[in-house]
Amino acid sequence: MNLRTVTAEIDLFALTHNLNTIKKTAPNSQVLAVLKANAYGHGLERIAKALPQADAFGVARLDEALALRAAGVVKPIVLLEGFFAKEDLAVIGVNNLQTIVHNQEQLEIICQANLDRPLKVWLKIDTGMHRLGINPEEFNYFYEQLKQSENVHDSLVLMSHLACADEISSPSNQQQIALFNKISAGLSEHKSLVNSAGICAFPAAHFQWLRPGLMLYGVSPMQNIDKKLAIKPVMTLKASLIAVRKITQGESVGYGGNWQSKEDTTIGVIAIGYGDGYPRHAENGTPVLLNGRRVPLIGRVSMDMISVDLGIDSIDEIGDVATLWGKGLPVEEVATYATTIPDELLCNITRRVQMTTV
Ligand SMILES: Cc1ncc(COP(=O)(O)O)c(C=O)c1O
Repeated sequence: MNLRTVTAEIDLFALTHNLNTIKKTAPNSQVLAVLKANAYGHGLERIAKALPQADAFGVARLDEALALRAAGVVKPIVLLEGFFAKEDLAVIGVNNLQTIVHNQEQLEIICQANLDRPLKVWLKIDTGMHRLGINPEEFNYFYEQLKQSENVHDSLVLMSHLACADEISSPSNQQQIALFNKISAGLSEHKSLVNSAGICAFPAAHFQWLRPGLMLYGVSPMQNIDKKLAIKPVMTLKASLIAVRKITQGESVGYGGNWQSKEDTTIGVIAIGYGDGYPRHAENGTPVLLNGRRVPLIGRVSMDMISVDLGIDSIDEIGDVATLWGKGLPVEEVATYATTIPDELLCNITRRVQMTTV
């Protein structure tokens, strides 16, 4: 690694391992791998091509799906927010994409369109999250309309999304599962309800299609679940030490001087900052892995640099490489110090970070 270069090492073996772990957890279900937001910051095309065993891919936006097709990806791709305008339907058809329908506007557009061949539709039902989805009482109407439309493939997928899957004991999970079962009872359509947390927590809700994101990337969807499932982090973020300096007790470090040393010590400056996607709100004490130990972040995060307290006896040298998260330092832990979620840290990696694969 060049000095001053920030790298995100993407471990494709870990990715495959995580997918296999999901498949072992739910052997009778198919896997729609969620690749939205640049595959949670890991690189859309890179991740898609490294997942030949996935059964389908899920993206949020049409341009993400088109980028996958342009890269030669031929697997089924589902637009998880559906389409936004009637012009999108031709593009969806030509590119052989599948779409979610979650509102009346989309239903009308699809039923009134003049399409060359029927589209594969996932009908999204709001069972309690109140974000996207039709109301349960609208289900029969939507179902009949879609089944009768020549523009829609014969078999639908019925789907919903759990609001609190990462809180296993939340009563809303069982309420949503029960409502989903009630609405879809007796229908032969394929069904899909669970994301990563739901895969771990609710085997009875696996149905035919799982929709993992986080777990694929080796991030535990809830506390301690990674130990049980043995998933592995896919991204390891690294940057190099570019300065090592002695400071005396009482001296401050960084913008605003908001961290003061309680004793004489050695500080290290690492060439990564919020311009690379390291969270600006990471607190003093956020762990950084350097030469086999954890050292605490001190002072404010700058655009291109952070400072760490190496301790008075430090033997660290310029050029040593630090790990900000990944192998040896879970991104979940760093996210806690930055009062955010790991998903956000991963997605926020910026373009100047060099991505490498191992
Ligand atoms: C509809 C839907 N399904 C599945 C996922 C994947 O969720 P997770 O990353 O928690 O596995 C998402 C992500 O937000 C989603 O919006």
